[in-house]
Amino acid sequence: MCGIVGYLGARDCTSVLMDGLEKLEYRGYDSAGIAVFEGAEIKTVKTRGKLAAMSEKLEREGSPKGHCGIGHTRWATHGEPSDVNSHPHSNGRVTIVHNGIIENYAELKEFLTEQGYTFLSQTDSEVVACLLDYYYAERNPLHAITETLKELRGSYALGIIFKDFPERVYAARFGSPLIVGLGEGENFIASDIPAFLKYTKDYVLLDDNEIVRLDPNGARFFDLHGMSIEKERQTAEWDVEQAQKCGFPHYMLKEIHEQPDVVGKMLDGIVKDGEPDFTQFGVTDDMLRGFRRVFITACGTAMYAGMVAKYAMERLARVPVTVEIASEFRYMEPIVGEGDLVIVVSQSGETADTKASLELAKELGATTLAVVNVKYSAIAREADICINTLGGLEIAVASTKAYSVQITTLYLLAFRFAFARGEIDENELKRLTEQLCGTPKLISDVIERSDECQFIASKLVNTETLFFIGRGLDYALSLEGSLKLKEISYIHSEAYAAGELKHGPIALIQQNIPVITIATQRHVVEKTISNMEEVKARGANVIMICREDARVADGKADLRLDLALGELDDLLAPLPTMCALQLIAYYSSILRGNDPDKPRNLAKSVTTE
Ligand code: G6P
Repeated sequence: MCGIVGYLGARDCTSVLMDGLEKLEYRGYDSAGIAVFEGAEIKTVKTRGKLAAMSEKLEREGSPKGHCGIGHTRWATHGEPSDVNSHPHSNGRVTIVHNGIIENYAELKEFLTEQGYTFLSQTDSEVVACLLDYYYAERNPLHAITETLKELRGSYALGIIFKDFPERVYAARFGSPLIVGLGEGENFIASDIPAFLKYTKDYVLLDDNEIVRLDPNGARFFDLHGMSIEKERQTAEWDVEQAQKCGFPHYMLKEIHEQPDVVGKMLDGIVKDGEPDFTQFGVTDDMLRGFRRVFITACGTAMYAGMVAKYAMERLARVPVTVEIASEFRYMEPIVGEGDLVIVVSQSGETADTKASLELAKELGATTLAVVNVKYSAIAREADICINTLGGLEIAVASTKAYSVQITTLYLLAFRFAFARGEIDENELKRLTEQLCGTPKLISDVIERSDECQFIASKLVNTETLFFIGRGLDYALSLEGSLKLKEISYIHSEAYAAGELKHGPIALIQQNIPVITIATQRHVVEKTISNMEEVKARGANVIMICREDARVADGKADLRLDLALGELDDLLAPLPTMCALQLIAYYSSILRGNDPDKPRNLAKSVTTE
């Protein structure tokens, strides 16, 4: 939620900030702004709308020319998206950008109002600028920052400039990510590495309650007492290409196409001698044998990856698995403790509810295992065990390749679990692993059939509402397929366990309502087909996504996408099948004239509750 950047160096600051914001737009895009020192003056330009609106404004009004400044792209929490609520916010001597939520802003605002401060915006962030100014009485920026941070509750990453110091950028964090990029004679602050990857791969992770100062001598780090601290310098493994569209019209399509490759990489990373080996992460068979129960908690697509894992783990390892939405888990007083394994799944590793669930599980004495795509994220660092998924940089808001590597990882874990607990023997372990190693090819085959997915999408674009149905793993997939479709096409969509449809939702089925039936699970395929016939009999327009040998009476399915899954174990069918659902969602979005990379109201990294 919200992206912040800051720069100090010889380059044109406005260009560096705008470049960085473009890479961070996945974090929010309802307004943007920059503040740059032009000589001794701070020039601020901000506007409602996506970054393109900001570029137009800069073109119209002229770009600030300077070498030091901060920038912001917003996902509104307090106050509607408007010019005045856009960041940066200023109060006299201090200008800030903020990512996060100041939970006690109302009480701080009251105090500051009594002190004579006035407020222009409806944001929580503006109080930070005022509070910094209030504590700036001694004209000591570090003192003002440490005093201010002590009073803030909530989460924040802040970029700060002081009018009296035209060659300094300060930043601080608590709960929201903040990375410091270290270049040759130039330095950066950003919510995420891609913002400065073009200029440097070297970075330092700021931890909670830490402050950084960029000045012409470099970057210096401080704790909450203003004492200087040493920080470890790291090097990013990503390269600039990953942050570009590379000829694809959208990041989402590029990321869908990357799936065979990233799933392959994930398999290479974990499979040794034909079987999954988790010892590199500190996970032994002994350890797996010891767990009584498994909980999987996550949000959005990551949670649906957990649903797939539940079916695989329970079926193979015969261990009870509960999947909970992280925002529920954290407040439900879960019955979790020693002997339980709590798996958190997250692409960004920053999702506030997932992070809080992880912290709660640790507190309750469970062993925590994170399946996380961003290696340097808070969740990756806090979990007892971290398995880093190798999806690479995912930029489109709707998650695709991250989901694939999550389920690949969780399948491998399920196989190992089952072997460790004596539920499958080594031959079966190797057979399943080999099957999984064949999925990148099957995903590629689905990608080759993009035209057919586009054709299916063309049949959906004029509908107001539709259903996905399936049983077992097909139900888990339906949930993710439906989420994908609704978030980028804005068509109302519901996913139902096929057998549950007649307990209510079938009342909504009428002439021409599309029902996408997923039927890859052979032990229930006949049941699913019966449910499909029930909706067909009530006028639904049935689109079936199934194995090519699924037998359906003539005329019962209006459209079929037959997947050539060959001998693939049903358990693994979600990997290639999901790719078809992603493509259908993508083309539905395009055909309706939407921007699939930046769907309305959404953000990729949800660092607020
Ligand atoms: C947001 C994104 C989803 C994502 C979810 C969880 O809602 O729009 O695509 O699945 O957050 O994010 P995480 O980074 O924890 O996987």
